[in-house]
Amino acid sequence: MTTLETERLFLRPLSSDDLEWLVSLRGNADVMRYIGNDGAVPREKTIERLGRYLRCWEEHGLGMFGIRFHGATEAVGWAGLQPLEQTGEIEVGYAFGKGAWGLGLATEAAREVVAWGFRERGLERIVAVASPENEASRRVMDKLGMRYEGIKLRYGTDCAYYSLTPEAFEAEERRRAAKS
Ligand SMILES: CC(C)(COP(=O)(O)OP(=O)(O)OC[C@H]1O[C@@H](n2cnc3c(N)ncnc32)[C@H](O)[C@@H]1OP(=O)(O)O)[C@@H](O)C(=O)NCCC(=O)NCCS
Repeated sequence: MTTLETERLFLRPLSSDDLEWLVSLRGNADVMRYIGNDGAVPREKTIERLGRYLRCWEEHGLGMFGIRFHGATEAVGWAGLQPLEQTGEIEVGYAFGKGAWGLGLATEAAREVVAWGFRERGLERIVAVASPENEASRRVMDKLGMRYEGIKLRYGTDCAYYSLTPEAFEAEERRRAAKS
């Protein structure tokens, strides 16, 4: 099993044990405001979605991780890589409970996920899409060094579309290291 670690976070692939907190997070309309179309997600749909996440790991050897602070049992969010519906491009995605917003966690987790995708899984390109109004998510994409490519139709709707190559990611990592 692939597990990832950052300074503050432990990431492990979602499993059926993750159902209850996922139901709770996805049942929050603020968390889901820019994900999907229907706001708070009912339990049955999250059961279905978790099934898709589990199949994604089996079929593609990549997928979504549950994210916890080191030593904590409760998850604060999820992030990972998955094929985009329709195009099969690999996208990075992330979402956190409201109490965990604004702490830099999405950037920290997504950076580790992307590093894994490029360095361990040998991906040549990772994309990300967000509702154009989702400023916080777009800011995370910027901080990862992703390139904005304009508005594109994904998931049946207009999305702000970003892409990243291993070279651009490593250059961004070097810039970040030089600053710190
Ligand atoms: C999007 C989300 C994952 C960001 O998580 P987070 O841990 O708060 O993100 P980070 O703290 O790493 O970075 C957020 C950045 O956006 C900025 N930001 C937050 N809200 C903003 C807003 N309304 N307008 C502009 N920038 C904003 C923050 O200041 C921060 O940038 P900074 O580090 O330069 O100050 C979180 O808000 C979330 O879970 N939202 C619901 C699910 C979701 O929309 N997921 C993305 C789907 S594409």
